[in-house]
Amino acid sequence: MRGRFITFEGIDGAGKSSHIEPLAAWLRERGHQVLVTREPGGTALAETLRKLVLHQPMDALTESLLVFAARRDHLTRSIQPALDAGTTVLCDRFTDATFAYQGGGRGFDLHVLSQLEAMVHPGLQPDLTLWFDLPAAVAAQRRAAVRAADRFEAESTTFFERVQAGYAARVAAHPARFTRIDALPPQPEVWTQVCTAVQTLLR
Ligand code: TYD
Repeated sequence: MRGRFITFEGIDGAGKSSHIEPLAAWLRERGHQVLVTREPGGTALAETLRKLVLHQPMDALTESLLVFAARRDHLTRSIQPALDAGTTVLCDRFTDATFAYQGGGRGFDLHVLSQLEAMVHPGLQPDLTLWFDLPAAVAAQRRAAVRAADRFEAESTTFFERVQAGYAARVAAHPARFTRIDALPPQPEVWTQVCTAVQTLLR
């Protein structure tokens, strides 16, 4: 049987990343083979592109082309073979992030993004996307407490409000595969929501 493809989305600081490894362990305890990966990244080439996207100044078209180039390599070499082998793939961000960050945040043409999406992964969408929803102002406070910012994390709260709106538009366009996770409560409560969503998918 083909593996399940589960993606994690949300603005920087929403807390998605801290639930991925625990979810992988939770699934492995239940007998699943699991691959944990991330975007941009997941292969040597895509990790090289990630460094450029996160740290080199560039325009929104270049950014979009690079994240889709990274995605193409990641899909063909890693994600698709894993799914074909029956492995559950947990991916920290995927194409919804491009619609939210390049489309919403940067204001880049959504029609062009849709064309790139159709070119890079025709017919493939995640089986479940967990959208960690947190107000942009709260996420900014959480980010400030933890680490040095990359090109995206250094953006303003207004940028992240646009990214949020980008995610909300994506959820409206693909309601069936999204589960909204309320990222405001303490971590154990968020974790319960994550497990419930994944149990529903596996049922
Ligand atoms: P992130 O998951 O936040 O990594 P980390 O937790 O290590 O900071 O992802 C890196 C950044 O890349 C994030 O700010 C969003 C951005 N990004 C895009 O702009 N477009 C994309 O298509 C993807 C996948 C990520």
